[in-house]
Amino acid sequence: MGPRKIIIDCDPGQDDAVALFLALAAPDELDVLGITTVAGNVPLELTQRNARMMCDIAGRTDVPVYAGCKEPLVLNAITAEYIHGATGIDGVDVFEPETPLQDEHAVDFIIETLRAAEEGTVTLVPTGPMTNIAAAINRDPSVLDAVDRIVSMGGAMREGGNRSPSAEFNVLVDPHAAEIVYQCGKPVTAMGLDVTHQVLSTRERVGRIREVGNAVATATADMLSFFHRYDTKKYGSEGAPLHDPCTVAWLLCPGLFASKACNLSVETQSELTMGHTAVDFWHVTDRPHNVEWAYEVDADGFYELLVEKLAVFGD
Ligand code: BDR
Ligand code: CA
Repeated sequence: MGPRKIIIDCDPGQDDAVALFLALAAPDELDVLGITTVAGNVPLELTQRNARMMCDIAGRTDVPVYAGCKEPLVLNAITAEYIHGATGIDGVDVFEPETPLQDEHAVDFIIETLRAAEEGTVTLVPTGPMTNIAAAINRDPSVLDAVDRIVSMGGAMREGGNRSPSAEFNVLVDPHAAEIVYQCGKPVTAMGLDVTHQVLSTRERVGRIREVGNAVATATADMLSFFHRYDTKKYGSEGAPLHDPCTVAWLLCPGLFASKACNLSVETQSELTMGHTAVDFWHVTDRPHNVEWAYEVDADGFYELLVEKLAVFGD
């Protein structure tokens, strides 16, 4: 069996960027078929540029990068420059990447790749609003035949929301898309704030990443040094949650996480609680289990994995 085929659908974002590095660091385990980008943390013109920059930094200008949806399915776009900075990846200097932007729309790429793939052979890894993936499913639900699993970052149960009192950012931005993805009938591993708030990028951990010394590790440390500012003030914690790399860490080392089969439904009606993920953790309803809800992670093990993988990029 070769490496697992994955499509990363993202909105970089410092933490999306680290997720990309982690995936590109593991070619024996993960075959990144493409990186699709979506509007989220910052507008689409920046998320696609940022994803291409990360490919350059990782020395992987061969990975195809696609731009996708500029707007959520139903609602107006919301961005998060107040966390990620005006560029989305503040902490590193912006440059025009060599990695080209593919002509094809991200949704077309997802559909064509899945149509061409054998049954159950491709894993989708959304780390931003799930607009692109939901649009692909809406246009041709049969593409799901090729999907083995979806490993998503989004939602919150015990943690409450980070962008509204009830909702996590990715689901709040496009709750209608998230609901389509969670209810699509394929296995979903859901990384919500309950676990991502356990993997804090403390000064000591960022220091260990910086000590690795190569360009990818240095860019990671530089981005995390910026990224932690807002959240450490907000939560009074030492270091910010490193959300998106939890998805790739689960693919590489699922034993780091504890999860439970649950029903998850997204609120798409209420103005007050829009984007809330109602996770039936205690099985108090008969609603079918549609996600593996991650609720615990070995944070030290996660950072050991990250440091080990970043080191493979060499000097
Ligand atoms: C999620 O929202 C974004 O700010 C991060 O990139 C992450 O995907 C966390 O709520
Ligand atoms: Ca993200």
